[in-house]
Amino acid sequence: MGKDVIIALDFAGARETFEFLDKFEEEKPFVKIGMELFYSEGPEIVREIKHRGHKIFLDLKLHDIPNTVKKAMAALSRLDVDMVNLHAAGTIDMMRRGLEGLTRPDGTRPLLIAVTQLTSTSEERMQKELLIAAPINDVVVKYAENAKAAGLDGVVCSPLEAKMVKEACGSGFMTVTPGIRFADSDKGDQVRVTTPEMAREIGSDYIVVGRPVTAATDPVEAYRRCVSEFID
Ligand code: C5P
Repeated sequence: MGKDVIIALDFAGARETFEFLDKFEEEKPFVKIGMELFYSEGPEIVREIKHRGHKIFLDLKLHDIPNTVKKAMAALSRLDVDMVNLHAAGTIDMMRRGLEGLTRPDGTRPLLIAVTQLTSTSEERMQKELLIAAPINDVVVKYAENAKAAGLDGVVCSPLEAKMVKEACGSGFMTVTPGIRFADSDKGDQVRVTTPEMAREIGSDYIVVGRPVTAATDPVEAYRRCVSEFID
């Protein structure tokens, strides 16, 4: 497991995605394919991007009965991606079965991480609509502990939660953190943001960066800036 910057390919289709990736002549960045692109283009786009030599985080956030998640994970593991995820809210049993499904006959598998509470869920809504009475930070830590108990590799969380997760689950338990912005750039719709440098100091293992790179005038330069602030 190495520290890396993952670019969120939040594009509507293959044409926009490849126009973007073609700008990178020297580097092969680690990329994230989410629901929008996967549901528009299907598994073929995963194979094509893999074939071009990129590492892939397939961000499909599975959440269903344990048997269905196990079988879906087996299908994803055949796509030869490097990282996939599911919702910790599906219970420890669902996560364990997902891990079983993901593991290939030769024992290898992509990294498996869990979504704790989405950063779009406020504590107020969680308590009022979902009737989860605990403070949101306790819920995030509990879900991370459940993911660890199920044998997963880590969680997706905000960089501000990464510190608590590392304290509870140990430094070897991975944190993958979105919500990254440069100190001098626009936050967009993200509320709790950190810079790549702060994410490094907090101890994130991977940062997920979308618009600060995809919408930059010079995406390659913006990507290099993320790498130099986060890793170098
Ligand atoms: O453009 P931006 O840098 O805000 O993109 C962040 C990426 O990380 C998006 O693909 C978004 O869906 C994802 N993400 C997030 N917050 C989470 C989980 C995933 O922003 N809690």
